[in-house]
Amino acid sequence: MTAEIIILGRLGQVAAATSSAAAASGHAVRHLARPEIDLAEPGDIARVLDPILLAAPAGSVLVNAAAYTDVNRAESEPELAHRINARTPAMLAARCAQADIPLIHLSTDYVYDGKKEAPYLETDPGHPLSVYGRSKLEGDEAIRLSGARHVILRTSAVFSGGGQNFLRTMLRLGTRQDRVRVVHDQRTCPTSAADIAAAIIAIAEQMADARDVSGLFHFCGDTSRSWAEFAADIFDAATAFGETAVKVEQIGSDEFPGPARRPVYSVMNCDAISRAFGISQPDYRRALNQGVAHALAAPRPPDATKTC
Ligand SMILES: NC(=O)c1ccc[n+]([C@@H]2O[C@H](COP(=O)([O-])OP(=O)(O)OC[C@H]3O[C@@H](n4cnc5c(N)ncnc54)[C@H](OP(=O)(O)O)[C@@H]3O)[C@@H](O)[C@H]2O)c1
Repeated sequence: MTAEIIILGRLGQVAAATSSAAAASGHAVRHLARPEIDLAEPGDIARVLDPILLAAPAGSVLVNAAAYTDVNRAESEPELAHRINARTPAMLAARCAQADIPLIHLSTDYVYDGKKEAPYLETDPGHPLSVYGRSKLEGDEAIRLSGARHVILRTSAVFSGGGQNFLRTMLRLGTRQDRVRVVHDQRTCPTSAADIAAAIIAIAEQMADARDVSGLFHFCGDTSRSWAEFAADIFDAATAFGETAVKVEQIGSDEFPGPARRPVYSVMNCDAISRAFGISQPDYRRALNQGVAHALAAPRPPDATKTC
């Protein structure tokens, strides 16, 4: 059992799911989020985080579930993306090393360029195509060199029944359109925030016991989908809950251009996390049905087209 799980981020998909999962399994949870701490402000990290880390009881773990996640906007805000995704994680890791608190950090499949034709391994080098991917890769590398006990959990296409994400956007579009056009030439493994949260808690418990398990680990759903296939799965699941059927028209990414380039293939091999922590790859279909059920029961959000 951890002494305390300190979570950076509050309203984000992974932050909220980790908070619920930690509380449900009896862990003491502490949030650090805006406005108390702005991760773009180095002064905030020293002022707010240092006293908390230095006073944290043995067995505490820091989870960085916060990031600059707007992949398209990052192309026009590279400095801010770099500050939050690269410089801040480096600072967090240095402080964790000093206080001997393990750090669990989230990374992304967008560090890869998508040229591989078989699932990526943790040993494959990153070649990001976007500002967001570069900023995240730089953060990962800083953590790896920091000397802190750390786990970098590299995941993909995060969805949940709450917050702003692709699943919720599709369901909202489906309330007013009987067909949607979605890109079919980018393939990834959708992963539910709830499954990521469960993995984070399992890792935190093992790190709190001082297991020396530092490293980078892939963690994603067990089924690879194009975004169009993912959308069709969402509508199929929703139809089973009584929603009207929606047709998905598969298009090329050249028909839906955006500022950021994304990998055409970012499927990740997840054997290493199973060997190190006994964490299996989560069941995509089960998670999707749960996410759709949750989303249909929740208020619908404003437009969100972000996929990261
Ligand atoms: N979403 C995806 O498809 C995806 C895919 C692969 C990897 N990932 C990675 O998974 C992690 C979690 O992603 P997510 O989907 O949960 O993200 P999200 O829903 O967009 O949430 C982002 C979180 O970051 C916090 N944040 C952003 N800027 C901040 C700042 N300046 N100061 C303090 N907090 C700030 C937000 O704070 P508030 O609580 O104040 O809103 C929020 O809690 C990230 O590291 C991301 O790179 C995500």
